[in-house]
Amino acid sequence: MPTSLVTGGSGFIGSHLTEHLLARDHRVVVLDDLSTGRVENLAHLREHPNLSVRQGSITDHVALSEAAHNVDEIYHLAAAVGVKLVADDPVRTIETNIYPTEQLLRLAVQGKVKRFFLASTSEVYGKNPGERWTEEDDLHLGPTSRPRWAYGCSKAIDEFLALAYHQKYGVNVTVGRFFNVVGPRQVGNYGMVVPRFVDAALKNAPVVVYDDGSQIRCFAHVHEIVQCVADLTAHPQSGGRVFNIGSDQPVSILELAERVISRTGSQSEIQFLPYNKAYSDDFEDVQRRVPCVDLLGQTIGRKPSRTLDQILDDIIAWKRGLLASE
Ligand SMILES: NC(=O)c1ccc[n+]([C@@H]2O[C@H](COP(=O)([O-])OP(=O)(O)OC[C@H]3O[C@@H](n4cnc5c(N)ncnc54)[C@H](O)[C@@H]3O)[C@@H](O)[C@H]2O)c1
Repeated sequence: MPTSLVTGGSGFIGSHLTEHLLARDHRVVVLDDLSTGRVENLAHLREHPNLSVRQGSITDHVALSEAAHNVDEIYHLAAAVGVKLVADDPVRTIETNIYPTEQLLRLAVQGKVKRFFLASTSEVYGKNPGERWTEEDDLHLGPTSRPRWAYGCSKAIDEFLALAYHQKYGVNVTVGRFFNVVGPRQVGNYGMVVPRFVDAALKNAPVVVYDDGSQIRCFAHVHEIVQCVADLTAHPQSGGRVFNIGSDQPVSILELAERVISRTGSQSEIQFLPYNKAYSDDFEDVQRRVPCVDLLGQTIGRKPSRTLDQILDDIIAWKRGLLASE
């Protein structure tokens, strides 16, 4: 029975991954400081004999070493996440997203960890003007004077570190660049668009679209994503490589707002808010973000395929269940 460390395991994706690994008969150790994660995300697994949850920060070297002791594989998901949080606190972003990744890679070398998954992000592509982004594309980050780019840049440095540790020490690292992942347990507090729209629609409150809503995104269900992560990490050909992980079905944010209103049967109106009111005067967004997921599909024989309506229906049902139990 392999033992897996999941950093950020009380978070949105991390809790689903933890559930998935337990279902595959792994022992799982979670390290999470509950800064954006929530105890409730793993509450239903509290009594699971193969799960151990540690509350602590990845920036605490002792806590990190103890959590990584004797594990077979590491899934490194803990990070300062969310466009809003990152724009508000760039120092925290850099401290959380860079140094601990290197510490963890060192621990992986010392502990002879067999597999290491690094959660990266589509944000590393920055403002790349391409129609579909492939893993070998150039990165088009904005200027350092704009804190928004600190997130993508910090994750790009993580990727360099991971690939360097693969090259120099043979750490079996797989880098996964997540594109918008959505599903039950995701919360809207940190600027995530789908939970924010669903929350508003279920209250018949205005659904607030930033700018004109012409931004293009692709949304994938978290259940499909964690399956891809586990399959990729276990795959013998994934070490030392970078993979886009997400849906390749584009939708505009305005269309997303309309679909959320229609699927919830809401009376909500759509309101438009300029970026400088939503964030700050120097905020820049990415207009189009569509991945090429051919490499993922060729490697594990699968890519996320649920339709937007299927995904929204699942999130809406989950949210309605929560509201009913309050
Ligand atoms: N959700 C997405 O669409 C998306 C897209 C791209 C990349 N990602 C990446 O996926 C990973 C998981 O993101 P998520 O969406 O589940 O967000 P999340 O905020 O729910 O998960 C992050 C988790 O890390 C924990 N954490 C943060 N700082 C920590 C610290 N110092 N020590 C210990 N734990 C800490 C948080 O408490 C939280 O549980 C992140 O690395 C993120 O960058 C997510």
